Amino acid sequence: MASPGNKPDPSVLAEYEKLKAEIEHHNRLYYVEDKPSISDAAYDRLFDRLLEIEEQYPGLVTPDSPSRRVGAKPSKKFAPVAHRVPMLSLQKVTQAEEFAEFDRRVKTGLEREDDITYLVEPKLDGLAVELVYEKGLFVLGSTRGDGATGENITPNLRTIRSIPLRLSPKAAKAYPLLEVRGEIIMRRSDFVRLNQQLIAQEIAPLANPRNGAAGSLRQLDPNVTAGRPLLFYAYGVSDYTLSGITSQSRTMAFLKAEGFRVNEHLAEVRGVAAVAREFERIDRLRPDLDYDIDGMVIKVDDFTDQQTLGQISRAPRWAVAWKFAAELAETILEGVEFSVGRTGVVTPVAKLKPVGVAGVTVSNATLHNEDELHRLDVRIGDTVVVRRAGDVIPDVVEVVLSKRPKGLRKVTYPTSCPSCGRPIARPEGEAAYRCLNPACPAQVEARLFHFASKGGMDIEGLGDKLARQLIAGNLVITPADLYFLTKEQLLTLDLMADKRAQNLLDAIDRSKQSDLPRIVFALGIDGVGEAAAKLLAGHFGSPEKLVSAEAAEMENIPGIGPVIARSIAEFFARNDVRAMLERMRQGGVLFPDYESAAGAGTLKGKTFVITGTLSKPRNHFKNLIEGAGGKVTGSVSKTTDYLLCGADPGSKRARADKLGINILDEDGFLRLL
Ligand code: IVH
Repeated sequence: MASPGNKPDPSVLAEYEKLKAEIEHHNRLYYVEDKPSISDAAYDRLFDRLLEIEEQYPGLVTPDSPSRRVGAKPSKKFAPVAHRVPMLSLQKVTQAEEFAEFDRRVKTGLEREDDITYLVEPKLDGLAVELVYEKGLFVLGSTRGDGATGENITPNLRTIRSIPLRLSPKAAKAYPLLEVRGEIIMRRSDFVRLNQQLIAQEIAPLANPRNGAAGSLRQLDPNVTAGRPLLFYAYGVSDYTLSGITSQSRTMAFLKAEGFRVNEHLAEVRGVAAVAREFERIDRLRPDLDYDIDGMVIKVDDFTDQQTLGQISRAPRWAVAWKFAAELAETILEGVEFSVGRTGVVTPVAKLKPVGVAGVTVSNATLHNEDELHRLDVRIGDTVVVRRAGDVIPDVVEVVLSKRPKGLRKVTYPTSCPSCGRPIARPEGEAAYRCLNPACPAQVEARLFHFASKGGMDIEGLGDKLARQLIAGNLVITPADLYFLTKEQLLTLDLMADKRAQNLLDAIDRSKQSDLPRIVFALGIDGVGEAAAKLLAGHFGSPEKLVSAEAAEMENIPGIGPVIARSIAEFFARNDVRAMLERMRQGGVLFPDYESAAGAGTLKGKTFVITGTLSKPRNHFKNLIEGAGGKVTGSVSKTTDYLLCGADPGSKRARADKLGINILDEDGFLRLL
């Protein structure tokens, strides 16, 4: 055994240097470029050899060794680090007109009239950090802190494989001191997987990817950070006086060449209109990105111009954050009501002091179920954070505990149905309480409303209020009764004039021609949404076959699981359901046969490639694609229409990027379907 002082022979030294470079090269291919070129096993062999040499000659180990990315000792507390150049914040705008004003100020400041060239990129919602490279070596990494002073988190940052430990010799020589700035993020897919792991280990899950990134980074034990899927995206350097780097776009090209990850949606654009187009493009793309962004950062590209413009207090005059309409807002919880859905599920609903979120006023938000209510421990009078993202129902994501007044009481779950008063039950293994009384007025109303909804029989004018009136007035008991309504009956209702009654009757009349998928969806079977309804109608083709099918046959339809299959079979076996279908037919509903959707499906003629780790085996997705008429092939080519891409994709992702092929994550794929 060699002692620490042992000098290795030159061949070992050369091998060691070569190994370090080789491993970092593969780290870069894997963690920065998403295109690994060797197998995990081959990588492990290189790493094992490196560790072997280091064990034999501890004196050799340098801070840029890939082995130092893990294994540092936990610290008691983070030491403060003063940033040599302050880390500024950004002015914010939310409207195109405000951005236009920013652009006018830039032009005034530069005494120019022609269009300004901007570098535009997504504003990542993570944690800002600074990485200091001295003579090309990564020596110090810190959080942004208050902009002047941050915390020293070097050992933690060292564990992040997308951070280069060493710059190229050329860069080391040209820039003996280089401070790179950027954002640490956690991808959404990684976040979901991490939370699954934490839950399995009975550790509290993280609230969102941003908290996931922040929490993982600020661990006193770097070994915890090392186990977390974090990424570093570079967005700039600390000063604009580096020779040869004269603009933001050149900075980004330089950083990319040095092995940093830079955002794939960087764009150099001229003028206000082009910036606005880019903003809208990314806003549309946003749901499909695998990381959270909260706006775009727009920077005057030229560094001389940046210098001329300077800064006001703590924000530069040459950059601005154009934020997307906020998806989160704080408001007061004024009460909790319990609503009963069409399947009897009892859902707690937060009654909020009205607040604007993402462009609309929100006064109700779901609290999901009893478990969520306990997890949030929300109390009436609390300040809560409400989220409204896309088409999703607004929900309460967090209680702001620091704003909780004293003496608030816990919310208790009801023991009886708020609509019919019968006892409610929570079936084993389910998160939801249900009212088991099928004649419960709230359920009957909700079923009627669902029946008439856009994706169902599409009866315009039949909203929740009218549904309630029809049921309260005993005009309708099951949806089939709609087809026997007369104008005289309708005119007995409050606020019902001749015109409105006629329009409603016409809409009901039109709905008699609805196709089979709509009818199946409208019935409101537990677990059957529009997609499943289409699959069922496509598979069976006729209502008779569907109604008499066994659960076992439905299970064979790709996309229909055993639980839903059983729920459908039980539904159609019910006497009241059969009676209602018969009454619909008597009332004039046509129940037309349905041309098999498979083949004529939504994905007909589309070619897919699947890569990366998905939440279910690949075959599941293959079945879905083929069930909808699409095709799955093994490699990406010009004829590929979509790449369905899970976590840790390999070279296929890079190739698809290169060929400009549509890349879908799982959510995007399901939406497409
Ligand atoms: S540039 C003076 N670019 O936004 C320029 N910042 O208020 C300062 N951020 O916490 C930053 N993505 O970490 C820039 N592409 C991006 C960014 C970005 C996210 C964060 C940054 C800081 C905040 C600035």
